Amino acid sequence: MQTEIITITDVKAQQADLTRAGKVLRSGGLVAFPTETVYGLGANGLDADACARIYEAKGRPSDNPLILHVSDRAMVEMIAAEVTPMAEKLLAAFMPGPITLILRRKAIVPDRITGGLDTVGIRMPEHPVARAMIRAAGVPIAAPSANISGRPSPTTAASVLRDMKGRIPLILDGGPCHFGVESTIVDCTGPVAVILRPGAITREMLTEVLGGCKLDPALVGADTVPRAPGMKYKHYAPKAPLTLLEGEPSKMAAAFRRQVRRLQGEGRTVGVLASHEVCESLRGLVPAELLKDYGPQGDLLAIAAHIYEELIAFNDTEADALLGEGTTEKGLGLAIMNRLHKASAFHSLRIS
Ligand code: TXA
Ligand code: MG
Repeated sequence: MQTEIITITDVKAQQADLTRAGKVLRSGGLVAFPTETVYGLGANGLDADACARIYEAKGRPSDNPLILHVSDRAMVEMIAAEVTPMAEKLLAAFMPGPITLILRRKAIVPDRITGGLDTVGIRMPEHPVARAMIRAAGVPIAAPSANISGRPSPTTAASVLRDMKGRIPLILDGGPCHFGVESTIVDCTGPVAVILRPGAITREMLTEVLGGCKLDPALVGADTVPRAPGMKYKHYAPKAPLTLLEGEPSKMAAAFRRQVRRLQGEGRTVGVLASHEVCESLRGLVPAELLKDYGPQGDLLAIAAHIYEELIAFNDTEADALLGEGTTEKGLGLAIMNRLHKASAFHSLRIS
């Protein structure tokens, strides 16, 4: 199959391209598209056969449910059995935006995509291309991140192409994604909201609107099965093993120098994913192509936007050992550290 890429810079002027994407979706085909979080791999969410193609293209385990993307409130009503008062508050405060609500589903949602659950994940993306594409399709769009299962999520069309070339007919290129980490998933089916996956709508923001919310115990390292089925899989992993250094930012540069020297002494080719400050301090010790600068220390928006692309980029280098710099777990930092902990299979060194 040939994979075509259409760059969308102006949703209004390029309505014909979006209409075409809508037609591909309605006829059961797959279209990769940009959102404000990561690129999605879309199919008609009401068509079980079309959704089956998503699992095939990604090599995704069939028990891992897909979330449905909607363009407006009417589409929420189409698929949710009930919009609870908690969900109403979240809709008003954060949607469209980088959040996914877990709600009881209607029978119209195919069993094939919910992995047998009686709930469905609903997301209303804010990205103009995503919204226009869903409107053009006229149906809720099932979409996981547009990567091969287990690899980092793509935040550029080039990364989508790398994983999906020859597997899907169409990619809409809307430029790099703003947030760079997947949406916050909030289970709204119980008495208290539960964060199943942290994202750009932070725990602090949810608490402010709802008065309280909990973290799925599986997120805080407890030995429990996560309630978002996809969170149990190894994820975001680069090919070379990654170790995180966590602790006081002002001590990072010195700690990195020690660890780099130690690993180099063992004959390893060391790659570093770290802040601008740490990368600058390692110039001369680590070759430029093995130094991936994820942004200024503490600039969480910049860090989130860069981590996946930098992790992917290590796969084109000779690095056989990777060191990454941890950050705060406050605000967006919780989502960043969740992804970095998974990418490193929870290998961390506390620095002091
Ligand atoms: O930002 C995002 O959410 C991106 C963009 C494309 O919208 N999508 C995304 O989809 O990250 P995916 O499939 O890669 O991650 C969705 C997660 C999976 O971990 C899945 O197990 C979980 O949501 N999930 C889906 N339906 C669920 C449900 N009914 N209950 C609990 N977890 C669910
Ligand atoms: Mg994913």
